[in-house]
Amino acid sequence: MIMAVVSGLLMAGLFVGDLFTPLGFAHGVLYVPVLVLAATFAPPRALVVLGATAVLLTLLGWMWSPPPPPGVAAKVYVSNRLISMLAVVVTTVIAYWLGKTRAGLEMTRNTAQTMSRLLAMASEVGHLGAWQYSTGTRASTCSIEVFRLHGLSVEHDHALEEVLACYSEQDRQRFKEQLEACARTRTGFEDEFRIASGSRASRWIRVTARAVVHDGGRVRGVEGTFQDISRQKEIELELARSLQRWQSLAETLPVIIWTADQGRQLTYTSRSLADYSGIAAQALLGDGWTAIVHPDDVTHVATGWVPSSGSDVRFESMFRIRRKDGQYRWHLARVTRMKLQGDPEDSWYGTAMDIDARIRLERDVKQAARRYETVLESMTDAIFAMDRNWHVTLMNSHAEVLLDRKKEDLIGKNVWEAFPEAVGTAFQQNYERCMRHAEVVRFEEWYEPLQKHFEVNAYPSAEGISVYFRDMTEQRVLRDQLNQSQKLESIGQLTGGIAHDFNNLLTVIRGNTGLLLDSTHDSGNKPLLQSISDAADRGAIMVRRLLAFARKQELSPAPVDVNRLAQGMHGLLHRTLGEHIEITLALDPAVPPAVVDEVQLESALLNLAINARDAMPEGGCLTIATSTVTPDAPPVHQGSGTPATYVQIEVADTGKGISPRMLSKVFDPFFTTKPKGQGTGLGLAMVHGFIKQSAGHIAIDSAENRGTSIKMLLPVAR
Ligand SMILES: Nc1ncnc2c1ncn2[C@@H]1O[C@H](COP(=O)(O)OP(=O)(O)O)[C@@H](O)[C@H]1O
Ligand SMILES: [Mg+2]
Repeated sequence: MIMAVVSGLLMAGLFVGDLFTPLGFAHGVLYVPVLVLAATFAPPRALVVLGATAVLLTLLGWMWSPPPPPGVAAKVYVSNRLISMLAVVVTTVIAYWLGKTRAGLEMTRNTAQTMSRLLAMASEVGHLGAWQYSTGTRASTCSIEVFRLHGLSVEHDHALEEVLACYSEQDRQRFKEQLEACARTRTGFEDEFRIASGSRASRWIRVTARAVVHDGGRVRGVEGTFQDISRQKEIELELARSLQRWQSLAETLPVIIWTADQGRQLTYTSRSLADYSGIAAQALLGDGWTAIVHPDDVTHVATGWVPSSGSDVRFESMFRIRRKDGQYRWHLARVTRMKLQGDPEDSWYGTAMDIDARIRLERDVKQAARRYETVLESMTDAIFAMDRNWHVTLMNSHAEVLLDRKKEDLIGKNVWEAFPEAVGTAFQQNYERCMRHAEVVRFEEWYEPLQKHFEVNAYPSAEGISVYFRDMTEQRVLRDQLNQSQKLESIGQLTGGIAHDFNNLLTVIRGNTGLLLDSTHDSGNKPLLQSISDAADRGAIMVRRLLAFARKQELSPAPVDVNRLAQGMHGLLHRTLGEHIEITLALDPAVPPAVVDEVQLESALLNLAINARDAMPEGGCLTIATSTVTPDAPPVHQGSGTPATYVQIEVADTGKGISPRMLSKVFDPFFTTKPKGQGTGLGLAMVHGFIKQSAGHIAIDSAENRGTSIKMLLPVAR
């Protein structure tokens, strides 16, 4: 800029001088040095402007400057100005040309600089350095990047020999051999070395080399590159490692691993398939695998591979593969279709596992379960099992019937929630003992909610306990009845003996008391004698009853129309029982006469009616029914020869009933639940003795709060 101003000022100064000095012809030439000066810095265009200005100023100076001194020829004067202008024009043209050339050079230099900068950057970024070796002089040159790659100082040059010193002796030797071979044979080489020493030790370097050949065909030297490929090498190693890892997994897993292409051609299989089938892996590839699949399964396996669209296709399939011993064994294959990055199409990836043992086991288990079920069902006992949490785990259909519950409702349920009434009973205590102490528990127990008497065997099991039980209600009743009748029999014999002797004593007491009462006139003794007589009479009544119970009373059996007898008693019963009890007679007119002591039968009916009244203090209904019955079996076990057909008289009430516990005792003499003075406990004992003595049977049936029914069976008169 300053130079431009200076040039302008110089030209202006020259122009002013031209205007004021007479010998202006020389001034035009003076513009030439100014132009030369400008040419050193100004661009070519500016030079053209300056040149044109100089020509213009010369012309103006010619026109405006004072006339030349006299004596100077106009010819000289004019030619002077013209030559000056020509000099300016020539100078401008030359300066312009020089300027152009300089600019071109400048540009080339700049480009060269840029290029070398970019090259340096590229080689630095790419960790790429170049080297050259001259075969003639054995001199070498390396780029700075080569030094940097090897951790050498970049301040000064190093020969190739120094660079190679970073490698192991062995690598160095290999490099030199290849270098010589390249120079000799003109074939380049490529190799990888690992730096052995220095700050860049253990970096991987790739070396390339090629021969440099003269125009004449002679090898001039070798040139090439050093490149740090550690990162690539790392990735390569990692890849190799992961491949190896995957392969060793695939080879050691106890399953067969395989891949196949879209056309179901096997592309890979783990060694396990070859080991399993005894056929070389190579032979199994392609469609070779079909040779070891069971002929019946081949089509089904092949059609299982549905080449549908969508990437996430998975399926399982089961088929048999031939093992090397010739046995076909079931396998489960799991297959997925996937497309790996870069693959042109999907592939199948799968595993196959020998599940033959499992299938056999499943079959065996099913068979065992069926067998177990059959055994369970064919058992005569009802069975159910519980785990440690008291959940029912199994039960047979007997148990369903006995417990009156469905299997589906109980399996998996907590037994105490299903049978809350059993909580706290002997059932719970015994099951808990069995579970806790792992001991076998046997017991018999009445279960109120089901009105059943169970015989139970509980066994500890691996999962909890197993319970075997059976309904003993009927046996129990029969046994009780038998016990009862045997008991009554023996008490009867005992009572009968005593009562007989006692009756004799009473006869003496009563006879003599009667005599004394008649003969004594002592009014003081009479009441005493009277009370002895009364007591003896009461004793006699009691003895009679005892004799009746002991089946030892004197009876006068004769055919009796029981219907007529019942009708005849209606009025008496009505008065005895009171208004609050309704009496119903349900008499079967076809009933034949029974052989029985009529007076005693009346007394028995009265006894039963009074018991019924006592059981219905709030009132109710008493029914006397007659019928003819032919029991399948006699109600109580008796000797043979008992008549098959009986006249039945049933006395039923709607009273409070008798608890099962009491029921077995009501026929016992002196058993009463009534307050002292109201009951003697001899009523039913007497009736029982009387019926038995009359070759009949008696049965009682009662349920608490539902009433009582007593059936008397009397032999039919023939
Ligand atoms: N119809 C009935 N309803 C309810 N309980 C009865 C009935 N008959 C007898 N019993 C019971 O049997 C017991 C014995 O009866 P029983 O031998 O006639 O003696 P008592 O009537 O003197 O008590 C009675 O105390 C009563 O508990
Ligand atoms: Mg009574």
